[in-house]
Amino acid sequence: MKNILFTGAGGYIGSHTAFTFLSNLDSNITVIDNLSSGFIENIEFLKYKFKDRISFIKLDLSNENEMKDLFKNNIFDAVVHFAASLIVEESTIKPLLYYLNNTKNTLALINLCIEFGVNKFIFSSTAAVYGEPKKIPVSEGTQLMPINPYGNSKMMSEIILKDTSKAYKNFNYVALRYFNVAGALSQNEFRNTKYGLGQRSKNATHLIKIACECATNKREVMSIFGDDYNTKDGTCIRDYIHIDDLALAHLSSYEFLQNNKQSEVFNVGYNNGYSVKEIINKVKEISNIDFKVLNASRRSGDPANLVADNSKILSLTSWKPKYNDINYIIKSAYDWEINLGK
Ligand code: UFG
Repeated sequence: MKNILFTGAGGYIGSHTAFTFLSNLDSNITVIDNLSSGFIENIEFLKYKFKDRISFIKLDLSNENEMKDLFKNNIFDAVVHFAASLIVEESTIKPLLYYLNNTKNTLALINLCIEFGVNKFIFSSTAAVYGEPKKIPVSEGTQLMPINPYGNSKMMSEIILKDTSKAYKNFNYVALRYFNVAGALSQNEFRNTKYGLGQRSKNATHLIKIACECATNKREVMSIFGDDYNTKDGTCIRDYIHIDDLALAHLSSYEFLQNNKQSEVFNVGYNNGYSVKEIINKVKEISNIDFKVLNASRRSGDPANLVADNSKILSLTSWKPKYNDINYIIKSAYDWEINLGK
């Protein structure tokens, strides 16, 4: 049976994508994760559901010797690379951490793929590579001008992938530029058990997660970071995508790499924009809880408006989004937050 290497599948997007791959493919998965921001609970859940089709090694990508041994001891059909630091504001304070964890570690991983002949690579990129795009929705051909080190670190990795695929003809990659992901696993057979998959957080920074924490009494108050942007209501606009659809985009990318010996970059969003105020109001409406919201100053590194032109992924791959409904996304995140408990 084929074996696919997942880096960072202890995290939110990686664990849901592992679930999607194992549910739809006749393959095994090897997960490496240093568990710095990932959760052992996610790995335990995957092991509970898929038994020995998934194996886990606690390993940091910067550990050159162990990484090399991993590639020596396994034959990987593909690498799906999630492991990264991913908080925009933190990247403005600790840029070197982002260049090390995101760019340098990705370079080392690509290098191993070339050395050991692994020729399919799926990369977690981000809408943050666009910076403040002039035209919304933003398409993949738009010039990349990140406005924070997080976006820079991912853009550099994309450049490394592009140059590598040009030089090594057998090596192909898909870079997925994620927009704003939210929600929890839709298959809810595990609800009300200690198992399940959704967004866990040691210290949440994401809007829908924070608003759901307020709606479930885990936080007393939240802030709107800036209401003086040049947008419809002054707050930032983002394109929120359900986690299951984002996970499916990886599966479609894997199939794309199997069927086409070519590399591509795809936006993964719905081409829908919602403001921070709209999202908070929807969380209040769905939960029926009127939690406290303060106005605060702008958060460093935030672009005003990011909405995906998703026509490329829709036309070139088999990806068919199933949950393009902001009410469903928020309900999914809210139900999970209740299920998580205190
Ligand atoms: N926001 C608030 N209050 C909060 C949390 C967030 O007003 O308590 C605002 C932010 O300022 C921003 C918007 O909500 O305007 C969305 O912020 P998130 O932190 O939820 O998400 P980001 O857009 O900053 O970043 C996320 C991922 C990145 C990814 C990016 C792509 O964290 O990895 O989406 O758009 F690159």
